[in-house]
Amino acid sequence: MQSIYLVGFMGSGKTSVAEKLKEETNKIVLDTDQLIVEEYGLTIPEIFEQKGEAVFREYESSILKNTPVHDAIIATGGGIIEKEENRKWLKENGKVIFLQTSWDEINRRLIDDQSRPIWNNQSRDKQKLLNDRTPKYKEVADIVVTTDGKELEMIVNEILSQIKL
Ligand code: S3P
Repeated sequence: MQSIYLVGFMGSGKTSVAEKLKEETNKIVLDTDQLIVEEYGLTIPEIFEQKGEAVFREYESSILKNTPVHDAIIATGGGIIEKEENRKWLKENGKVIFLQTSWDEINRRLIDDQSRPIWNNQSRDKQKLLNDRTPKYKEVADIVVTTDGKELEMIVNEILSQIKL
């Protein structure tokens, strides 16, 4: 099977959905943020602080293109769709699932989050970022699954009913 790529904004549940899919399917699960940390030896906040967002985006593209295009489930960082080259690569190589979550729900989930540099940057307009990114998630998506008000199990069942894993 083609690998599954989970895309969506910060707090849309990509990591949790990937882990639950792993339980259900026994497939290999990868996470682009985690792969970046392993490859470059710095945490995500450290990369943003020491190298800047542009370098993080370069790392992210390079990691994405080295993920296995068969038989894996891959959770991606919320900004993976920012680069045109990544959108093109995802459309060509992956089965892409967009987890669509509303602004209100994202705010509820990330209220105490300290780990995401963009979320914690007070000078960034995150609601605008969500609005700007939404068409890009849709552009790459084979399947769109809304997550508001749904238990994890329901989201995963919805995915499994649409994709044979
Ligand atoms: C980012 C999302 C993060 C991480 C980095 C940048 C973004 O991943 O890649 O902090 O630009 O939205 P999650 O979507 O897993 O939080």
